[in-house]
Amino acid sequence: MRICELRGVGRRYPLGETEVLALQGVDLDIDAGAFLAFAGPSGSGKTTLLNLIGCLDRPSEGHIVLDGQDLGGLGEAELGRVRAEKVGFVFQSFNLIPVLTAVENVEVALRLGGQPKDRARCAAALAEVGLADLLDRRPAQLSGGQQQRVAIARALVKRPRLVIADEPTANLDSHTGAAVLDLMKDLNQRHGTTFLFSTHDPMVLERAGRVVRLRDGRVEAGP
Ligand SMILES: Nc1ncnc2c1ncn2[C@@H]1O[C@H](COP(=O)(O)OP(=O)(O)OP(=O)(O)O)[C@@H](O)[C@H]1O
Ligand SMILES: [Mg+2]
Repeated sequence: MRICELRGVGRRYPLGETEVLALQGVDLDIDAGAFLAFAGPSGSGKTTLLNLIGCLDRPSEGHIVLDGQDLGGLGEAELGRVRAEKVGFVFQSFNLIPVLTAVENVEVALRLGGQPKDRARCAAALAEVGLADLLDRRPAQLSGGQQQRVAIARALVKRPRLVIADEPTANLDSHTGAAVLDLMKDLNQRHGTTFLFSTHDPMVLERAGRVVRLRDGRVEAGP
């Protein structure tokens, strides 16, 4: 079963009088349950591609089918609903809300998804990432690796089909980054959640189930 299919996907950004061709002619099939890394030099299109798959942006050309649904025909509100229902996000800079505790940060994700507040469920999500004892800490009272674990719990609490993580280890030291990656892989294997992430880090690539390399906005021919 495929979680995502891209056909002839391109994305241009207008820039003054000209435009930047950030992605072009991307054809890609991603299996449900994949643990897939996008690699490639800075500016090669990794973030652009993750944003398209995650319904944060739309292609300038081509088609994307996500979990059986063609995104091309959807209006803004519908695209937002698909995103809320199917996709969880983990960011390079964690993006936690500083005045909220760990468990409250996870609760925000449930409420944004239109679901009722459920502290027990959020506490369980945090327990799953090894933070059962730190529910009431605010982000400033947590280490970088712990903050990223809160972000992973927040991404997973709705049980999305897909988690998108743009350079999830970029702000972590290599030891902590490896632990976060191992945690993501464990969750991938236990729940079958598809993980798509981007990275510059060889340690991360080593742990990926599949690596897709981008260069100048194109997918490089793989093995
Ligand atoms: N909003 C924008 N307007 C114009 N050009 C953009 C915009 N966003 C990205 N680009 C350009 O699109 C190309 C791809 O950018 P993207 O951010 O996807 O690269 P990346 O592979 O994620 O790079 P990095 O590894 O540095 O994060 C780059 O040339 C970038 O300058
Ligand atoms: Mg990027």
